[in-house]
Formats: sequence, C-alpha cells, structure tokens
Amino acid sequence: MLHSALINVMVKAARRAGRSLKHDLNEIEHLQVSLKGPANFVSLADKRAEEILHADLAKARPGYGFVGEEGGAREGTDKSHTWIVDPLDGTTNFLHGIPQFAISIALQREDTIIAGVIYNPGNDELYIAERGKGAFLNDQRLRVAGRRKLDECVIACAMPHIGRGDLELSRREMTAIQSKVAGLRRFGAAALDLAFVAAGRFDGFWERNLQPWDIAAGQIMVREAGGSVSGINGKDDALSTGHVVCGNEFVHGELVKILRAAEG
Ligand code: IPD
Ligand code: CA
Ligand code: CA
Repeated sequence: MLHSALINVMVKAARRAGRSLKHDLNEIEHLQVSLKGPANFVSLADKRAEEILHADLAKARPGYGFVGEEGGAREGTDKSHTWIVDPLDGTTNFLHGIPQFAISIALQREDTIIAGVIYNPGNDELYIAERGKGAFLNDQRLRVAGRRKLDECVIACAMPHIGRGDLELSRREMTAIQSKVAGLRRFGAAALDLAFVAAGRFDGFWERNLQPWDIAAGQIMVREAGGSVSGINGKDDALSTGHVVCGNEFVHGELVKILRAAEG
C-alpha cells in the first residue's frame, strides 16, 4: 500500500528502533543483562531506541522540534512542527518479556496532531494514521467497534502505580464501569490501548495522568478510525490534560457519564 512520504519516514524510523528494542528484549529473555540489573538495562534500551528515532527523524526532517520521553524537548528551527515520541511504551511489560509494548511517534503541526505511527516490534503490528486519510493496521483500514450496548463492551483501563495518581478515585471508576460492561482489561501500554480501540478490539479506554507521548499518536489513530477522544469530562483536550477517554461516539458518551459520576 502507498503511503505519504511523511508516513514512510515515520515507519522507517519506527522499524529501525523496533529492531533495537527486539534485540534488547532478547537479551532480557536470555538473562544476559548487565550487572546493574534488568531495570537499568531497560532504561538503556529505551534511550537507545529514542536516539535512533531522533537521528532518523531529524535526518529526514531537519529543523523539526522533538519531544521524547527520555531526552526531553529539543527545539528545532521550524517552530510549527514537533515530533512527540515514546520510544518504549509499556516498559513494565517489556521488562517482563510480555510482548505488549510499542514505539509511538506523532507529528504535531501548530496545535494539531497530523500523523501517528505505533509499532509493536514484539508481534510486528504497525498502526498508522494521517489526518483526513484514515487509520490502518498493517495496511488494513481500521474502524472503531460499533457496539451500542455497554454490557457487550470490553473496556481497557489503567491502575495507577503506588504513589502515582489517585488510587481511591481509580478504584471508584473501575467499580462503576465494571458493573456495566462485559469486561475490563489492563494491558499496560497506553499507546496500544488506544490503537486497540481504533482497531475495534477494545470498545473503549480511559486513563488518567498520561503524558503527551502516551496519547498523541493513539489519539489520531482513534479519531481517524471514526472514534471520539477527549479528556475525562468529555470536553477537555486529552493531550493537554493527560486524561483520556475514548470509544465510538456512544461508548465515549456513556463512559464520560459514568466517570463524571464516580468523580463525585
Ligand atoms: C506507561 C504505559 C502504561 C500507563 C502508564 C504509562 P511507559 O508508559 O503507557 O500503560 O498506565 O501510565 O506511563 O512508562 O511504559 O512508557
Ligand atoms: Ca509511555
Ligand atoms: Ca516510555
């Protein structure tokens, strides 16, 4: 399938960084990790992947700004364009050899995300989206699930780590949603949770306290697959608040109602 030059640049970078992560995953699985231990090794793996992404993207589009989870913000001469990158989303899964992790790359033009690529080197699933041109998984056009009965829906969520986020609120939200849906899932990689909504695998997803690099590519993926994405109250912007809820229009609306009630 033919994609734009921009998408080709993003995919090439994602695949090269993916090879690096896959190599490092192999090391972890064979326990040939450095003396400092696997956690330390993983933090090197994501830094390595981010450097590859930065090098490839900067070479193809000199001047664009770059915001990566590991290296922070690097200003470019072109103030209108910024890459937003998570070189490894799903770090805990990666560390445990669970193949649910991904590289997430988005391109922001002014205030709008115009393209997103999410790549899981663990199973070679490649998600791409470009504004106005649709979303695809390995070249298959994506569409969010059409379910309109909440008790038939599978919804993805998150569980805040100890010391991060409001545990009580999270429990209230989960209890409220759990009683109304077919199933709740916690897969542990926000970019892929969003991609799974775009692919119609999950009917919806919500999570609080995310960073722009967790959301940016997944948000355009869901929108280009026909879904709705917002902050938890249904109105705010997910990217700027860090809180996200999504699904088809119906599921999104229902989740917003439940989450707002749980907030009290
Ligand atoms: C994390 C994952 C996880 C989410 C966390 C994120 P990381 O990203 O997306 O699913 O619950 O809040 O920080 O640390 O693996 O890049
Ligand atoms: Ca992340
Ligand atoms: Ca990360």
